Amino acid sequence: MRVGRAQWLAASLVAAALVGCRSVGAADGTAGPAAAVAPRAQAQAAAAPATAPVAAPKFGPDGLPIVDVAAINQPFLEAKEVAKFVARFERESREIFTDRVAIADAVRLRPGDRVADVGAGTGLFAPYFSLAVGAHGKVIAVDIAPLFLEHVRQRTLLDSLPNVTTLLCDQATTNLPSGSVDVVFICDTYHHFEQPAATLASIHAALVPGGRLVVIDFHKIKGQSSDFVMGHVRADEATAVAEITAAGFAPVRREGFLKENWFREFVRTESGR
Ligand SMILES: C[S@@+](CC[C@H](N)C(=O)[O-])C[C@H]1O[C@@H](n2cnc3c(N)ncnc32)[C@H](O)[C@@H]1O
Repeated sequence: MRVGRAQWLAASLVAAALVGCRSVGAADGTAGPAAAVAPRAQAQAAAAPATAPVAAPKFGPDGLPIVDVAAINQPFLEAKEVAKFVARFERESREIFTDRVAIADAVRLRPGDRVADVGAGTGLFAPYFSLAVGAHGKVIAVDIAPLFLEHVRQRTLLDSLPNVTTLLCDQATTNLPSGSVDVVFICDTYHHFEQPAATLASIHAALVPGGRLVVIDFHKIKGQSSDFVMGHVRADEATAVAEITAAGFAPVRREGFLKENWFREFVRTESGR
């Protein structure tokens, strides 16, 4: 049976009303923020065009889930307390955490290097990078989330790591000055870039000629990777390498010691966009 426009609209209004009813009380028994939002949601539903009352398709023509990158970044930007993210990023069951020393070694930093950790999160790598580059080097923790950067500042203060600084960025640019770094490190963050070409152009400009870019990200393999990875990670390794190469980088090294993630090193070429 074909469903007409009027029936779609009626169904969406009923759904919006039901959502509003269910979300009036917060879990702690108080009238949560949802109570205030519900009437607005109903009004928006009523005003929405009848042709678009339901959610966007979840799968692309390749049969893979369409990843909403902005949505996966939202929790970082809205975070009010950092503890749950420390627990999430710095737990023994996370390969990046258990292998953090091997990863830091494999980045092959040298004393005096200026390294930017783009998408530094809670600053997991800051102490290792700080030690590797030494007193004449510099570690810049770059992130879109002010709360994470405040946490990095506090932990580096506590650990007395004066060569670590922080830099707030956005999706269009890392805000790193031109020619200011020797190495850029991106760990489990490439799939969070909402504008990969713009971010890569900014990284290309920030690196000195011949500078190095190290990228680690989840393997995304149809039929092998978890549902979480398939629905969370935008690009598989081949796609990411193609994008990075197109942005003016040449792949020079691949490490195979991680199981859930790929590890690649690139060097900056002169052909950035
Ligand atoms: C999964 S966390 C990884 C954190 C850290 N690299 C680690 O491995 O523990 C992804 C991080 O990327 C940040 N992020 C998202 N988009 C970004 C962008 N365009 N530039 C820099 N950081 C970004 C998020 O705020 C978050 O801290």
